[in-house]
Amino acid sequence: MKKQLISMILCGAMVAGMGLSAFAGETEADVLPGNGQKIGVSMPTKDLQRWNQDGDNMKKQLEAAGYVVDLQYASNDVQTQLSQVENMISSGDEVLVIAAIEGSSLGEALTMAKENEIPVFAYDRLLMDSDAVSYYATFDNYMVGTVQGNYLVDALDLENADGPFNLEITAGDPGDNNAGYFFNGAMDVLNPYIESGKLVVKSGQKTFEECATAQWKTETAQSRAENILSSNYADGTNVDAWLCSNDSTALGVENALAANYTGEYPIVTGQDCDKENVKNMIAGKQSMSVFKDTRTLATQVVKMIGQLLNGQEVDVNDTETYNNNVITVPSYLCEPVFADVNNYKELLLDSGYYTEDDLK
Ligand code: BGC
Repeated sequence: MKKQLISMILCGAMVAGMGLSAFAGETEADVLPGNGQKIGVSMPTKDLQRWNQDGDNMKKQLEAAGYVVDLQYASNDVQTQLSQVENMISSGDEVLVIAAIEGSSLGEALTMAKENEIPVFAYDRLLMDSDAVSYYATFDNYMVGTVQGNYLVDALDLENADGPFNLEITAGDPGDNNAGYFFNGAMDVLNPYIESGKLVVKSGQKTFEECATAQWKTETAQSRAENILSSNYADGTNVDAWLCSNDSTALGVENALAANYTGEYPIVTGQDCDKENVKNMIAGKQSMSVFKDTRTLATQVVKMIGQLLNGQEVDVNDTETYNNNVITVPSYLCEPVFADVNNYKELLLDSGYYTEDDLK
């Protein structure tokens, strides 16, 4: 069988200043050629940078492999996504790749896919409460949180410093199964320091529910951060660190800090390396982000689709973690990569992810 080689995976970990390894190496993905099959790709929204990149990469790579692509964005509206996916099925798409707005809201469409024997790939976000999910490809979501938590431990030198340090927390969308993993990954690292009193959450908001941000919206994160700042830090008290689960929420916190805060600027975490956040990283307003190279994930999914359609064994590396309340979905987890002002050039510019102009 003719194999087309697309080798561009940077599934390795570039971890600077954290005692973790540098590039773990490049992996090559063997992508089997398609035969003009139509693949439905359902993305949640065009509002956030990463999903535009995910959609573009999937389209580009699927087309390069010989598939026809039916790419649709759902404007963060669950009903829109549901009907888009149903239309994909009725218009003859042979495989579905879905990044859900809300993991548990696509049940009817997934049942329809199963009845029509259409394989479904959950893309980045797990599809919940359904046995119609064939595979899941994502970045290791718990590890994203661990990287963020460890970064705060190192940056505040929590092992050695006396503290106490003030911490606030901004988490993700409760409708997105990933958000809990990010939160738990970070809080499993940070909770011992909260329990010992080295970290103090002055707002008192420490549970996922209290810290969550519906639909990951920057504006929602910003107004919650403004409330926290005016209620707890208006007298000039420092907030030393702000754990933000991703870049869109970090941006909200950074906007709130710019508007309402007079203390020393905190350490702020993020995820995705969105352009605005990388600019903020360069400007000293965000300390780190977690880089999830969307090209890597797209390559992996295209590879898995090729294997499935050719009756080969599908490449997974986790068959235990991602239970969607009905089945445990065989998964492929890519490794997230730590990014900060010291390594962003190598990671984002040298790899061709961004151009210098993108970051101006
Ligand atoms: C993704 C993150 C992203 C967030 C908001 C999550 O499901 O894994 O990378 O920041 O959604 O779009």
